[in-house]
Amino acid sequence: MARRVAVIGSGHTRFGVLPEGPRALLRSAVDRAVGSVDRGVERTALEEGFLGTLGIAGWQLGNVSAVLAEELGRTGLPVSHVENACASAGFALRAGILAIESGRRELVVVAGVEKMTDAPSPRRRYWLGVSGDTEWERLAGLTFAGVYGLLASRHMHELGTPPEALAEVAVKNHANARLNPNAHFQKAVSREEVLASPRVAAPLGLLDCCPVTDGAAAVLLASEETARRYTDRPILVAGVGAASDTLAVQERATLTGLPATRRAAAEAFRDAPIGRDDIDLVEAHDCFTIAELLALEDLGFAAPGEAAQWTLSGATRIGGRLPVNPDGGLKAKGHPIGATGVSQVHEIVLQLRGEAGPRQVAGARHALAHNVGGSGASATVTLFSAGAG
Ligand code: COA
Repeated sequence: MARRVAVIGSGHTRFGVLPEGPRALLRSAVDRAVGSVDRGVERTALEEGFLGTLGIAGWQLGNVSAVLAEELGRTGLPVSHVENACASAGFALRAGILAIESGRRELVVVAGVEKMTDAPSPRRRYWLGVSGDTEWERLAGLTFAGVYGLLASRHMHELGTPPEALAEVAVKNHANARLNPNAHFQKAVSREEVLASPRVAAPLGLLDCCPVTDGAAAVLLASEETARRYTDRPILVAGVGAASDTLAVQERATLTGLPATRRAAAEAFRDAPIGRDDIDLVEAHDCFTIAELLALEDLGFAAPGEAAQWTLSGATRIGGRLPVNPDGGLKAKGHPIGATGVSQVHEIVLQLRGEAGPRQVAGARHALAHNVGGSGASATVTLFSAGAG
């Protein structure tokens, strides 16, 4: 069995329309992660870095990993840029976990950053769009909202999902974001407002979409043994899974779910000492409201077609049977593409240490993070457990 990996520190910037540039955001997230370690950590102890980013809104598409080493103050550190669209940070996290599991490294940093809001919108549209299939989707004018709109239509048609269930995802996640000072939106929305919001790609309206956001997040990973030197409350990685799928949605056998999520979840739970019933909260990839419903079903919590009822019944709210996205999710906390997968882990660290304040999920011991690339061409699922306190 591979040796166990623990998160020993995490840091997060505010998410939103921010004045800081990408280097300042990255530096701030990394400084906070280093500063959060209970017994302190020397930067010289870090052996490798992994950076998730889609290329900082197209400003630095190549060689961007060097920026992580520079902003960490560790020029010379081996660093890799991991790019899998919106799942860049999930895959960067996995690369960090595998580096430690293999025995090659004891202590690594995994960070994610995106600076999206200062790119002019044609550049941003192009840059986001090139993560979708070019031949069959992008050149035909299909955006990510368009693809998820098609998935939503199909889910409604085949499984009877009502528009109110989609709207309720936005209502819940905006309400949760109000409890998170780092969230992009601090504003509650009603079901009626979501349903009446201007259509972006029917049936999805403005309030069904994640926003365009700046931000960064970072975590420090260590082997379980090394982690004991730094903290008495490590957050242990209990399982990790990753998978891919066809780039173009039209090549897939199903449009009512994302098979990459199903495969990644199967792998994560396969070797884990915990099962789905043990999970106390989920950080799900809700880039559009339909995506949270797909996640609940693809991750194996709800049967196909049942996620709508879960959501409408309040089961996914804080205090419900399975809280989903207590930090506001991509929908309302924001989705700075390459930062999202690490941001999810930051929330899980807070939750499993009982430090999430007004959005704390009572008694949380085990959590799941789910990160999806684009419309499902890739996905990661990572499981976490609170270590001995
Ligand atoms: N949810 C809620 N409110 C939003 C919002 C969102 N997703 N996006 C923008 N707003 C609000 C803004 O805060 C602003 O409010 P204000 O007038 O009170 O200041 C208003 O709507 C207009 O904002 P603007 O930035 O002009 O919106 P836009 O029309 O340019 O962009 C979207 C709206 C939905 C098209 C854009 O947010 C988007 O492209 N989202 C998806 C990003 C994406 O595809 N990510 C990858 C996922 S796979």
